[in-house]
Amino acid sequence: PLVSTGELVAQACVTGRALAAFNVISLEHAEAIAAGAEAAGAPAILQVSENAVRFHGGRLAPIAAAAAAVARASTAPLSLHLDHVESTELLYAAHPEGFSSVMFDASKLSYEENVRATADAVRWGHERDIWVEAELGKVGGKEGEAPLDAHTPGVRTDPAEAAAYVADTGVDALAVAVGSSHAMTERTAALDHELISRLRDAVSVPLVLHGSSGVPDAEIRRAVAAGMVKINVGTALNTAFTGAVRDELAANATMVDPRKYVGPARDAMAETVARFLAVVAG
Ligand code: G3H
Ligand code: ZN
Repeated sequence: PLVSTGELVAQACVTGRALAAFNVISLEHAEAIAAGAEAAGAPAILQVSENAVRFHGGRLAPIAAAAAAVARASTAPLSLHLDHVESTELLYAAHPEGFSSVMFDASKLSYEENVRATADAVRWGHERDIWVEAELGKVGGKEGEAPLDAHTPGVRTDPAEAAAYVADTGVDALAVAVGSSHAMTERTAALDHELISRLRDAVSVPLVLHGSSGVPDAEIRRAVAAGMVKINVGTALNTAFTGAVRDELAANATMVDPRKYVGPARDAMAETVARFLAVVAG
């Protein structure tokens, strides 16, 4: 069924578990995430990023409708989240399209501008019962950006600043920069566990880990044990999907029906989803 992100997060916090959120680019992504969640017997968040909306010609409605329909038809509890939203125009479209949560990403702005823009987004969201996540610090590797060195001073989230940011913006969850980076195809990121613990102590709302595709299972488990509540995974699904497409096409030089290679690719993605869900469940 389609449930709300707020209720999934509340349940996760009560049980001391974490939730995984997976990026949806196509209908097949949504189907694979639902299949993986059903196999794992776990809830999951289907998240559509501003980049994915751009890929669909700037139109949110078709991909949102597909993801929502997949969620409604699934036996697993699935919610719909709009991810890395920078444009307020897209933010305001979230509500009519059935999203129960958004991640408003003002992390490129200065601290003061980030606070101002995010506080406005939170006010807008809370008037509509929408759960709002925001980012402080800089998780690198976002599309169209030069890669960031996660060790550069000023990139990581500062605990005292994070506490002030949460108080000043009223956000429901905070994405933090603790050593992970977006779009990694190897799982070699080392997290700063000491910083995660300090952030956990300093901040009252759930913490979110972005760029989890590049983080080894053991590191994700430690982060969850230390109090990370939402684990965002995108690239790992595409690595599984595209790897399977390559294998199928290489093995069948005359194949033309996309269902013949998209089907196995969707299955490979569902397996990856189930594996991440098992890791996140602890
Ligand atoms: O918001 C989405 C995630 O941070 C996904 O990052 O593609 O590196 O797993 P990833
Ligand atoms: Zn992210």
